[in-house]
Amino acid sequence: MDGSVEQTRQTYQGWDEFYNKNVDEKLAFFEVNGRLFDVIFAQQFDRPFMDYLCKIADMIRLLAQTKMGQEKLRHLLPHKRAMLYFVQPSTRTFLSFQNACYILGLSVSESRGTSTSSEVKGESSEDTIRTFASYVDLIISRHSEAGFAEKTAWVLNQTERPVPILNGGSGPDQHPTQALLDIYTLERSFQDIGGLDGKKIAMVGDLKRGRTVRSLSYLMKNYNDTTLYFVSPDIFRMKDDIKDFLKKHNIPYYETEDFESVMPLVDAIYMTRIQKEYSDDPSGEADTYPGFHFKKKHLAIIQPHCTIMHPLPRRYEIEVEVDNDPRAAYWRQERNGMWIRAALIAYVFGVEQEVSKEFL
Ligand code: NCD
Repeated sequence: MDGSVEQTRQTYQGWDEFYNKNVDEKLAFFEVNGRLFDVIFAQQFDRPFMDYLCKIADMIRLLAQTKMGQEKLRHLLPHKRAMLYFVQPSTRTFLSFQNACYILGLSVSESRGTSTSSEVKGESSEDTIRTFASYVDLIISRHSEAGFAEKTAWVLNQTERPVPILNGGSGPDQHPTQALLDIYTLERSFQDIGGLDGKKIAMVGDLKRGRTVRSLSYLMKNYNDTTLYFVSPDIFRMKDDIKDFLKKHNIPYYETEDFESVMPLVDAIYMTRIQKEYSDDPSGEADTYPGFHFKKKHLAIIQPHCTIMHPLPRRYEIEVEVDNDPRAAYWRQERNGMWIRAALIAYVFGVEQEVSKEFL
């Protein structure tokens, strides 16, 4: 027996009512003085914000090329501390946030599982998060429960010490900072051909349970004349809430199981893995769905400028022989996560203009 006690589930007056509201009605709750305070949903980002953040990320990237530039960046937030609460597995999101903090001079504490915290004594997640807020100035969380980041931000914002929460992935629900780095990568890939406006993007794989494609779809509302192609096995089709959102914003989308027919048409292919961990019976999901893999031979049929992306981790979705093609963007994409997250943290603490000052 490991001695752990069932985790306490507190009832918070008003939470259910808040949770069931339309996202548009919730946004103001996560803002202070017209600026984002908590980053919970991709719907919080509009076009001016996206353009602004991508610009800041470019500047941070440039400054970080020299020792002097790195020193300037490190002097932006040495008086701030961040907590990385990652109780669902993560490699990239954790490391990119951690290194984004280092770039800006923040000190970082971490918890990577509930087994070493008071949660084994039965403490509720909300009390655990409130405890972090006693010691740090920023909390970045990843959790297997949908709505987790939202609930903790909602709880903290009503305390005497609210600290910003950044959602680093909340179950199969949302991954807003991944969507930031995906847009940043798309915009950089298309910088010589008019940016993301007017482009066609295929999203491939487990669209039902993949949170990255959900958050990225929400962000498409900020770009003009984009078209989406949802390519997935029938059982993993994109959910209706996203399709309704796209209809509402007049963003055309097509659904198909025929990946090869879409390949020559699109400007970007966003591959994803089958999210077995959300299955009721993970052992029953042996199929890797080879019809939804991108193989070396496919390089011959995609457009010369087509960008191949993947949030990673990869399983069999992209053959390793594809990696050295200049159109394979996924390794650049993961590094972009560090720059855009540094830009986001600088923004959250209101020091992003110190970065742009360096370029006046
Ligand atoms: C993704 C995630 O965790 O949702 N990974 C990531 O953050 N880069 C995608 C995945 O796990 O398939």
